[in-house]
Amino acid sequence: MSPAAIITGASTGIGRDLSLVLAREGYDLGLTARREDLLLALKDEISGRYPDGKVFVAPADTTNESDLEAAMKDLIGKLGRLDLMIANAGIGYPTPAWKNNWPDIKKILEVNVMGAIHSLELAKEAMLKQGAGHLVGISSVAGFRGLPASSGYCTSKSALTTYLESIRIDLKPLGIAVTSIHPGYIATPMTKKNPYMPFLLSPETAARKISRAIRRKKARYLFPWQIALLVRIMRVIPDSVFDWVMSLKKQKGVFKD
Ligand SMILES: NC(=O)c1ccc[n+]([C@@H]2O[C@H](COP(=O)([O-])OP(=O)(O)OC[C@H]3O[C@@H](n4cnc5c(N)ncnc54)[C@H](OP(=O)(O)O)[C@@H]3O)[C@@H](O)[C@H]2O)c1
Repeated sequence: MSPAAIITGASTGIGRDLSLVLAREGYDLGLTARREDLLLALKDEISGRYPDGKVFVAPADTTNESDLEAAMKDLIGKLGRLDLMIANAGIGYPTPAWKNNWPDIKKILEVNVMGAIHSLELAKEAMLKQGAGHLVGISSVAGFRGLPASSGYCTSKSALTTYLESIRIDLKPLGIAVTSIHPGYIATPMTKKNPYMPFLLSPETAARKISRAIRRKKARYLFPWQIALLVRIMRVIPDSVFDWVMSLKKQKGVFKD
């Protein structure tokens, strides 16, 4: 029997390429996102390239609890089991602190935290019954320190990261692995407007790297290595130095709204 995976946010970007990579690796797939037309086009593409695998589509907005529950139930039922759950759906845009950003911050938290965690909790339920499985969350390198003009996004990713870390400890003895993935800059629709993206990777390369980390059941995976190194340095430097470096970047206009 083929392993089965569900991916949220499969319609574009990292989620789309990850779906193609997992199909090539022999997974049966459950794909979800809001745009059904894109999911159906991806399903056709995967079925054309990898005719032996099964692909099911269930559109849902991850912030709508009943929609998400129905989609997950539908996909898990059709797949027959769930070996791998990838909570990838996410949004991101600047929330510069010199104005009231509540609506934008709320939206980011709803998708990147509440939606992601809800999808993982639903998957976990199925995996606990099986006594096996692997939960993966697509967090970000932006989740380790507060970056300028990114209060909403950084908060959302640090929340998802700590959630994943906590459940990883609880679930290990129950046979369920947990991985948090922290990409640097990836060229997707989300980052199209970003003016400055050092060490930019294609979504195809990102998907290959993520699938390797999943196969190795890594607890945490930061990439590319150049950004991972910068993050490690950023995590240990004093606040005064961190603030100074970040204010230089802001002066360059890098974080302008
Ligand atoms: N690109 C980067 O540089 C980068 C870096 C670090 C982390 N990440 C993370 O990687 C993940 C994927 O991002 P991406 O760069 O591939 O961006 P993307 O191409 O914009 O993809 C985002 C995906 O999330 C889905 N989505 C958004 N809101 C949703 C909602 N309310 N309900 C259901 N699905 C929703 C979108 O599908 P629909 O619009 O069809 O619903 C789309 O499939 C995100 O969690 C992001 O934070 C990205």
